[in-house]
Amino acid sequence: MKKFTLLYILALTAGLQTAFAQSASLAEPDVAVFYPKDFDSIHTLPSLAVLKELPKRDSLPASWTIKPEFTTRDGKTSVHFDLNTDIDLYGTGEVIGDLRRNGSEVTLWNTDNYEYGKFEGKQLYQAHPWVLGVRPDGSSFGILADNSWRQEIRLKNGVDIISEGPSFRVLVIDKETPQEVMVALGELTGTMAMPPIWALGYQQSRYSYFPDTNVQDLADEFRTRKIPADVIWMDIDYMDGFRVFTFDPEGFPDPKGLNAYLHARDFKSVFMIDPGVKQDSLYSVYQEGSAGNHWVLDSLGNEYNGEVWPGQVAFPDYTRPETQKWWASLYKDFMNLGIDGVWNDMNEPAVFDGPGGSMPDNNIHRGGGDLPRDVHLRYHNVYGLLMVRSSREGIMAVNPEKRPFVLSRANYIGGQRYAATWTGDNSATWDNLKMSIPMSINLSLSGQPFNGPDIGGFTKSPSADLFGNWIALGAYYPFSRNHTSNETEDQEPWAFGEEIENVSRTAINRRYRLMPYLYTLFHEAATTGMPIMRPTFFADIQDENLREEQQSFLLGENLLVIPRWAEDLKMPEGDWQDIAFEETDDTYQAIVKLRDGAIVPMGPVIQSTEDYSTKKLTLLINPDKSGNAFGSLYDDAGEGFGYQDGDYAILDFSAFKTAENTLKVSVKQTEGTRKTAREFRIGLVKDNQIIYSDWSSQNELTLTF
Ligand code: NOJ
Repeated sequence: MKKFTLLYILALTAGLQTAFAQSASLAEPDVAVFYPKDFDSIHTLPSLAVLKELPKRDSLPASWTIKPEFTTRDGKTSVHFDLNTDIDLYGTGEVIGDLRRNGSEVTLWNTDNYEYGKFEGKQLYQAHPWVLGVRPDGSSFGILADNSWRQEIRLKNGVDIISEGPSFRVLVIDKETPQEVMVALGELTGTMAMPPIWALGYQQSRYSYFPDTNVQDLADEFRTRKIPADVIWMDIDYMDGFRVFTFDPEGFPDPKGLNAYLHARDFKSVFMIDPGVKQDSLYSVYQEGSAGNHWVLDSLGNEYNGEVWPGQVAFPDYTRPETQKWWASLYKDFMNLGIDGVWNDMNEPAVFDGPGGSMPDNNIHRGGGDLPRDVHLRYHNVYGLLMVRSSREGIMAVNPEKRPFVLSRANYIGGQRYAATWTGDNSATWDNLKMSIPMSINLSLSGQPFNGPDIGGFTKSPSADLFGNWIALGAYYPFSRNHTSNETEDQEPWAFGEEIENVSRTAINRRYRLMPYLYTLFHEAATTGMPIMRPTFFADIQDENLREEQQSFLLGENLLVIPRWAEDLKMPEGDWQDIAFEETDDTYQAIVKLRDGAIVPMGPVIQSTEDYSTKKLTLLINPDKSGNAFGSLYDDAGEGFGYQDGDYAILDFSAFKTAENTLKVSVKQTEGTRKTAREFRIGLVKDNQIIYSDWSSQNELTLTF
């Protein structure tokens, strides 16, 4: 207390006001909410991050250790947490640098950051005012600064969050494990919706495949070469002069025909839509937007214009309920052309001729509904979130029987509810390849499970060797898409010669074989908030040696993915066994290890998820010391919402060693009404090989080895 009194006196002399929280209470057993003295909800609530009501259920127990000190000066608020130096920090959203965030700084101000080159890469496309702390004993906490104003997170001396906006509330979750913190974060902010299964497939993109015949050839090429793929992406050049919701009359004269062509070959299409609407009095979307008064205003109340791809554009003000509705309605004719998914880009929003590459801080968002009118400084970081919320609604309205898929470049904590993400304009460098792992993990630890970088790198052209390494790893990112810029060489899997084509095929084949497990993990993420891609230290939260391991990562809790280049790797204890997939040339392939005590369901190689089925499953098993192993499978139609009415199945697998060389496995459907006749075989993973049983349609299997 002495230290605090001294601080308080010092602060007063410096014109600051420092105080412990004015009000502190428990909203849930392990979730505390702190309000500063001068808190006025009008400036930060309703929260776009936290969806739950946070009633004052209980007073804060005396034993609660993670407490904020608030400081206000000139209408800005900072919050400080004194922390023991032995606490490891993670999260902070989309960031470059090491997995362990101690000592780092990040500015939360969504920024179009080409090659991560601006602001030393400390300011990227998304904002997650969130820090995860892991104590030496593995017990963990999370700190969420519940406001969207421009702010900084400094992790140099405990945790400091310094906002340019007025006072905000802070939530602290304190749990036994980091996994429990992630689930609690999911409960507060909501989880990713279950995506259509095709979105888990391998995806091919470039800026831009043009014209449509090029897209058709690309689809054929994948099928001829037998490289599995699910999605082809249409970047901005498909549009007519970059006007959103239009098509270039020469390059893409028949989008419906193109989509039909793709569908006939088991491909899905994703088309880009940016927020900026070309200021063109002859263009219907601009006319409608102007007639409906849908644009963000400048500080004088006039339509704000700035430059993006089409030239001067106007920006929809997604804080307005009318604008949300209007924007959603634009997807009707668009999606009816057979488009499967939508890519919302440039939604920081990026403005080429605007201050700092965006719009002025004092632009006006008019709000409506429960969102108050306020300046851009408040709404900037949620512009992308509000855009994808509206896009998603529009897509749902057109095809209510289908699960929407939206990919967004900008977002805000909680935005996983509406869109998946990729990590923007990375480069084809070794450094960027290696960095992609901690980057994706920290995003995952910030509530966004469905993410991944551009495989191969967006800017620059990768060497064959770099691409080979990238695709060999990239097959295991939750979002697995190869994308490159308009200034680079070809980057399709076959563009680097036969060897790398084979490397690509093998890696992608493995992703599709692991699809039953991957889909099960997506279901877990959607229902509990647990990340799909997890840090290696999740395998043993008390092993402090693992806390900085950022070359390998866990997929769920049962698989450990280790890139070939990994050196001096820190391995979690236990008998992690290499899965020896059938293919022989593993020079580039990431090593995939199965945890002892785990069962992972695996399917056959398929060319797209159109052929996905769980009728024939190999159960990869690595029994623990006592000869036991457990696992599960989530299965549903892969599309639609039947699963919400019970049309799904959860199967539990359990394996027991019944004699020295005998393994017995039983399969039991524990949930859901979906019935499928299945065949199983055991695949015992042992000493660098897989020993298989015969196929059987029984729910009890035996392997003698
Ligand atoms: C910027 C995006 O980050 C990139 O992926 C895309 O190709 C370009 N915009 C062009 O649309």
